[in-house]
Amino acid sequence: MGNDAFDTLMGSMDNPLIVVTAAAGEERAGCLVGFHTQSSIDPERYCVWLSKANHTYRVALRATHLGIHFLTRDDLALAERFGTLTGDTTDKFAGLRTEAGAGNVPLLSDCGNRLLVRRTTLVDEGADHVCIATEMLTAETAGPFEPLRLSEVGHLTPAHEADERHDPPTERAVPTG
Ligand SMILES: Cc1cc2nc3c(=O)[nH]c(=O)nc-3n(C[C@H](O)[C@H](O)[C@H](O)COP(=O)(O)O)c2cc1C
Repeated sequence: MGNDAFDTLMGSMDNPLIVVTAAAGEERAGCLVGFHTQSSIDPERYCVWLSKANHTYRVALRATHLGIHFLTRDDLALAERFGTLTGDTTDKFAGLRTEAGAGNVPLLSDCGNRLLVRRTTLVDEGADHVCIATEMLTAETAGPFEPLRLSEVGHLTPAHEADERHDPPTERAVPTG
């Protein structure tokens, strides 16, 4: 089975999109995420995968808590903001209503469907994304909603490609051939 088949299978999942937020000290971060899932029923656990290229990843390494915001079909502007800009150069939270949750994590006030979670484990198995496993602390919902899905944001260009690394690069960023 080649990469095309893998891509086809993954695309067929048409994942719903979330915005993951984090804070470390005064630094806030957040990005659009398609790699995420519930990972336990009792206790309630949730995993997200962050790209090593992202500002959000670097902040999340030092964060104790994350905000997980489930986007609706009305949230295309938020998807654009968090998926195409980078906290390396922009304050993505400017002009947005936020509340500080545990660990100072910024919660988007206009996203009524969200989790506040505590980081438990980080798994780096050497790929371009790391898994952050979390325990659910609070869940809020504004009621049933139509999720914004991957197939609806094909026109968005992420601020960082998954294979980008910071300069000077780590050993993993050096081309192998
Ligand atoms: C449709 C879509 C899905 C994405 N999924 C993920 C993901 O699962 N994990 C991740 O870390 N970045 C993902 N990204 C990339 C980041 O959201 C994007 O590069 C963002 O601009 C990084 O911002 P930051 O540097 O402020 O963290 C996705 C982007 C798009 C457009």
